[in-house]
Amino acid sequence: MLSVNMVQLAYLLASVLIIFALKGLASPESARRGNLFGMLGMGLAVLVTLQLDSVQNYAWIFAAIAFGGLIGGTVARKIPMTHMPQTVAFMHSLVGLAAVMIAVSAAYDPVAYGIANAAGGLYPASRIELFLGTFIGAITFTASLIAFGKLQGLLSGKPLVFAGQHLLNLILGVVMIAAGIIFCMNGAWMPFLLMLAVALLLGVLLIVPIGGADMPVIVSMLNSYSGWAAAGIGFTLGNNMLIVAGALVGSSGAILSYIMCKAMNRSLLHVLLGGFGGDAPAAGGAAAATDRPYKSGAAEDAAFLLANARSVVIVPGYGLAVARAQHALKEMVDVLTAQGVQVKFAIHPVAGRMPGHMNVLLAEADVPYDIVFEMDEINSEFSDTDVALVIGANDVTNPAAKSDPSSPIYGMPILEVSKAQHVIVIKRSMAVGYAGLDNDLFYMDQTMMLFSDAKKACETIVQALD
Ligand code: TAP
Repeated sequence: MLSVNMVQLAYLLASVLIIFALKGLASPESARRGNLFGMLGMGLAVLVTLQLDSVQNYAWIFAAIAFGGLIGGTVARKIPMTHMPQTVAFMHSLVGLAAVMIAVSAAYDPVAYGIANAAGGLYPASRIELFLGTFIGAITFTASLIAFGKLQGLLSGKPLVFAGQHLLNLILGVVMIAAGIIFCMNGAWMPFLLMLAVALLLGVLLIVPIGGADMPVIVSMLNSYSGWAAAGIGFTLGNNMLIVAGALVGSSGAILSYIMCKAMNRSLLHVLLGGFGGDAPAAGGAAAATDRPYKSGAAEDAAFLLANARSVVIVPGYGLAVARAQHALKEMVDVLTAQGVQVKFAIHPVAGRMPGHMNVLLAEADVPYDIVFEMDEINSEFSDTDVALVIGANDVTNPAAKSDPSSPIYGMPILEVSKAQHVIVIKRSMAVGYAGLDNDLFYMDQTMMLFSDAKKACETIVQALD
């Protein structure tokens, strides 16, 4: 058995490893190393915890680790990249559930957790910790399950809005906090259970008005909540490691939500209150209400333009993920590069539907990192680019974000594709993207629309190039 100081030292080391993990995950190149640090940190924390005096029943613990590990390993192996947002949402629901289970068992048997006074009741400070850990965990649990259902298509992705919704949520919030305060004052079981039940209901009600397409921001918020719930429970268990790791997850999730909202030029409050971004436009939305003229061409025309270019910048978007076209696109890049064309990728911070969505797809297809550039790095290069190839992207290229103050996306930074000499846009129709807006880029003189599924278009272009 390690001494108390050694345990705390090991937890400190594990916390540092988890900080390195977060740092590594900030870029695709270092993400694998980041994951390794995370696994080492968590492994160390688990080993140190297992040898604590208070841990007694190894049979149950190892059975749970084997069972959970088997399910987690199988799911991780089988899940396609496009299902990552709902997988993450489901994982967060488990963190919330774990926080609730620990809080319920600690409230039920405080002596076993060493948080009871001489009379066997809970210490006042422990009651506050349990209150916080329980309600945040319960909201995280049900909200994450609904987010999972929406993203997986088990529930409609459309916002569910009804009259008096915000008032109802407000009343429930007040009841939950009042019950929590009564529990903090008298430590009684009934207000605790009432607070828990209302928090579970609130988790559902808070998430139903949020459209499927806004879910990634919400998943990141839930990530943050799950971290805070874990930190709250860390106080109850007197476990510094859980407090630090929970706070790291809590704050990084909150920062990520803020970055996403900023890149979309939307306020976090607006997203949280919901009612925007149903799933219909995202998967192939309504046609843009316009009879403006535009030019369209065939894959062979696109191949001709690409083959005769010196420089090509590819702008991938959500449609690339829908079409699962990343491998076909990589093949096209290989053919173009072999023919002496300089090819680069331009990634908008909110292209697709989750942070790093495009980076993950390109990495999956083994696109080298050194030809993939973030928006700020590459925007100045479009004016020197022969062909900008927009594939399944729409909003992230819409010039209205810069030029039309009345546009809902006004102020959102965009990829300045329209500065390229030629623009090829691959999508299936003139339909709008996530924001539901017509895109002036499609009607510009230098733009050629190529109406096709992204994967099919890439395959046909490769044939034509060959
Ligand atoms: P969008 O603006 O949503 O446009 C995607 C386009 O892909 C659609 O116009 C669609 O047109 C096309 N498409 C769909 N399936 C296709 C297929 N099989 N083959 C070819 N094209 C296909 O995507 P974007 O440009 O990536 O912008 C992302 C949007 O999502 C932004 O508005 C952003 O604010 C929002 N958002 C992003 C995030 C994160 S974190 N990335 C989170 C929430 C919301 P057709 O139907 O005509 O094919």
